[in-house]
Amino acid sequence: MKFFVDTADIDAIRDLSELGIVDGVTTNPSLIMKSGRDIKEVTKEICDLVDGPVSAETIALDAEGMVAEGRELAKIADNIAIKVPLTWEGLKACKTLTGEGRMVNVTLCFSANQALLAAKAGATFISPFIGRLDDLNLDGMDLIAEIRQIYDNYGFETEILAASIRSVNHMKQAALIGADVATAPPGVIKSMASHVMTDKGLDAFLKDWEKTGQKIL
Ligand code: G3P
Repeated sequence: MKFFVDTADIDAIRDLSELGIVDGVTTNPSLIMKSGRDIKEVTKEICDLVDGPVSAETIALDAEGMVAEGRELAKIADNIAIKVPLTWEGLKACKTLTGEGRMVNVTLCFSANQALLAAKAGATFISPFIGRLDDLNLDGMDLIAEIRQIYDNYGFETEILAASIRSVNHMKQAALIGADVATAPPGVIKSMASHVMTDKGLDAFLKDWEKTGQKIL
């Protein structure tokens, strides 16, 4: 499973990049707002830092506007994936933009039928929003499983990009189901390394080591 970081925070991306685990980045208008930065400026910095796809989202509601904005965002760097919403207009924009050879991430997906349409429209990525389905007392992971099955049934190459990931458990479940990509906030990715028994075990080892009076260096 590829790891994308769901943030426009340059320092956080740089920090995770040091481990070589950042396969891409996703942003959205809320994350750009949170960064307090200019969209083109911050997206360019992210693209310079990360080789993989960097999603930048359009704002227009009509296909023509999305295509125009998408082409503008794509000028930022070669690894831009244009993000369009899963609306009828968004699907039309997806068709046009992928037809031009651009990467398109269709976002705000909440049903298997929406995902099926996005694949038919040639989407590079489909972004089902897990956490926001959980918020409605539904199981977001059921959607990932349904999309996985449908895409596998027909050999669609659209990559399932599990989004709105809120916990380490979401990461594990997405990997078990076979999402191609999971995009998560930096804190969730870092938390995957934590386990209380690791901390406890390390503490015991260090206490015993101290008793030996030895040094490695
Ligand atoms: O990847 C989409 C994400 O940014 C939305 O997450 O937590 O606002 O539902 P959330």
